[in-house]
Amino acid sequence: MNLIVAVTKDYAIGKDGKLLFSLPSDLAYFKQTTMGKVVVFGERTYLSLPKRPLAGRTNIVLSDNPNFSADGAIVVHDIAALFRQIDRFAEDEVFVCGGASIYNLLMPYCKFAYVTTIDKVVPADTYIKDLTKEGFVLHKKGQKQTENGLVFSFDIYENKKIKKLK
Ligand SMILES: NC(=O)c1ccc[n+]([C@@H]2O[C@H](COP(=O)([O-])OP(=O)(O)OC[C@H]3O[C@@H](n4cnc5c(N)ncnc54)[C@H](OP(=O)(O)O)[C@@H]3O)[C@@H](O)[C@H]2O)c1
Repeated sequence: MNLIVAVTKDYAIGKDGKLLFSLPSDLAYFKQTTMGKVVVFGERTYLSLPKRPLAGRTNIVLSDNPNFSADGAIVVHDIAALFRQIDRFAEDEVFVCGGASIYNLLMPYCKFAYVTTIDKVVPADTYIKDLTKEGFVLHKKGQKQTENGLVFSFDIYENKKIKKLK
């Protein structure tokens, strides 16, 4: 599987349960990258989506709450159940889409990380681990772009220490 995330220079991804920035081209990149694939969310991020489930994709939600259900999405309650679900799909078709608890939990099993790197540090309360300390190396550096006053690039990292799905 892969992960897809937008991070600042210090690996911040969210504040007050929301994204840090509004970047239309990042949303378009997310849609284009994940369309037709499997998207895996933590419960909190899933519930924060303005429209759910995400159309045209198989939505899987990881939740600790045994009573949690989500119309149009598959709900799993632990990593073993998640791995059983994604076993039916090709590994490169599955995208981990956050939030932090899900990125940090599943990062070791992800082959590629599609990272929108935003060249800024802002107040935040939700961070992911530094990918480069977790075995990921830069695979492809995107061109710098500017939108809404933010400088960012669509980069791809490859996990050189990937763990096999059990
Ligand atoms: N920048 C980006 O690309 C990006 C992408 C997605 C989300 N975000 C941001 O990330 C923040 C949300 O992240 P978050 O970490 O607070 O929430 P989250 O990862 O979206 O969701 C956490 C939920 O997952 C459940 N969970 C976690 N690990 C589990 C496990 N092993 N088994 C079963 N359930 C499990 C937790 O249950 P319990 O709480 O009951 O333990 C909790 O309900 C928001 O600010 C959001 O905007 C940013």
